[in-house]
Amino acid sequence: MKKVYLETFGCQMNVSDSERVASVLESDGFEITQNEATADVILFNTCSVRERAEHKLYTRVGQIRNSEREKPVIGVLGCVAQLEGETLFSKSKGIDFVLGTKAVGRISKIVNKVFEGEENISDLGEREEFYNWSVSPTQQHSPFVSFVPIIEGCNKFCTYCIVPFSRGREKSLPADLIIAEVQRLKDSGIREVHLIGQNVNSYRPKSDQGMEKFNGATPFSRLLRAVAATGIDRIKFTTSFPRDFHEDIVDAINEFENLCNWVHLPVQSGSNRILKLMRRGHTIDSYLRKIDKIKSSARDISLTTDIIIGFPGETVEDFEDTVKLYEYCKYDTAYIFKYSPRPGTPAFEMSDDVSPGEKTRRFLELEKVQKPLLRDSLNKCVGKILEVLVEKESVKISSELSGHSTCHKVVNFSGDKELLGKIVNVKITESKSNTLFGEIV
Ligand code: SAH
Ligand code: SF4
Ligand code: F3S
Repeated sequence: MKKVYLETFGCQMNVSDSERVASVLESDGFEITQNEATADVILFNTCSVRERAEHKLYTRVGQIRNSEREKPVIGVLGCVAQLEGETLFSKSKGIDFVLGTKAVGRISKIVNKVFEGEENISDLGEREEFYNWSVSPTQQHSPFVSFVPIIEGCNKFCTYCIVPFSRGREKSLPADLIIAEVQRLKDSGIREVHLIGQNVNSYRPKSDQGMEKFNGATPFSRLLRAVAATGIDRIKFTTSFPRDFHEDIVDAINEFENLCNWVHLPVQSGSNRILKLMRRGHTIDSYLRKIDKIKSSARDISLTTDIIIGFPGETVEDFEDTVKLYEYCKYDTAYIFKYSPRPGTPAFEMSDDVSPGEKTRRFLELEKVQKPLLRDSLNKCVGKILEVLVEKESVKISSELSGHSTCHKVVNFSGDKELLGKIVNVKITESKSNTLFGEIV
């Protein structure tokens, strides 16, 4: 039995694709191993969103090439594979095959070809089946939480972003398939699903099938109601695109307890001028109207975002507008990224004119705003009772359990491991660094 080691970089979509790749390989007679040293095949599911992410691939392939071990088969999957294609064979010696983002279903075929002696093979073709291959329970990233892709690709073409090129155009999965999958997961003991996509709220399936009985102002809010009606314990969704974020999503959260109180709504910048250069299709005003609606919910919805600092042409004033916006929105937390020019995107043609030192300065300044707000958002949980899905035993302390609240905060508490997979009420007693601590009540 050939052993396969699979390493994943990038977003949840890549994690989800990796689960499927591992499932397909397993059912085709390969053994999935966590031990890189003895693997016959090493796969990298790659990310291209920033230069550093892309570089990880070259570093890792170099490490294997320079190690003492007998050379394994090396395959590259994911966004770098899709974008670079066959050029990877000359860019990084040792790579045996390249499999694009939509060709992942053909993983076993391509691995077998390498073992039959074919060299430098690439498949950047279209998907033959559209996600109708389920994840095997042994290959899930969690025994209790499942990722369910509902839309893939992106049509937005924000000027800095490579994703529309690596993932292609938006394609929504049929609602009836999604609902059936959630039902199946629920019946198999899964407690929480994450509906995932580059922009989940741009969901637009070809037909109504499966959602006929559910109302809502947009197909996505109808899908949310339909998925909620399956009765699965918890539903989370990422990422939402501001322009397509309809207020009705908040109404759906207000109506259904199992739609979790967490919204991730990337703003990218607090300056209208920069938003326009980024071609985001939203303004600060239109964004803030949505934030106000989210904040008006009695569900105490936790709010997170993504921000890029140092976009071409970003002045100190533009950056200060981002700081102001952050303070107004009081995000629970944010992913802050330094702008990284991506070849092939429109922004790559603009001058990357914020110096590295200034990018770092702005990054640290924004972090100074972020940290106390993160503290506040955790501190306000102290004394409250949160519903926590018990996901795993804590890595650091034995008899400590760990899980997420409905508002997606990490909570640690003592308890018996029999509780794994259960949803328990935890009274929060303390908050330390990025984590809440509490006692089961
Ligand atoms: N579809 C999502 C985000 C996908 S990429 C959205 O539109 O919000 C995840 C995050 O990476 C983005 O939100 C953005 O903040 C960041 N990002 C994308 N391209 C980048 C680049 N060239 N440089 C730095 N950060 C980038
Ligand atoms: Fe990239 Fe913009 Fe699409 Fe998000 S919406 S994936 S940032 S192009
Ligand atoms: Fe990276 Fe591709 Fe996801 S570029 S963020 S792995 S869609």
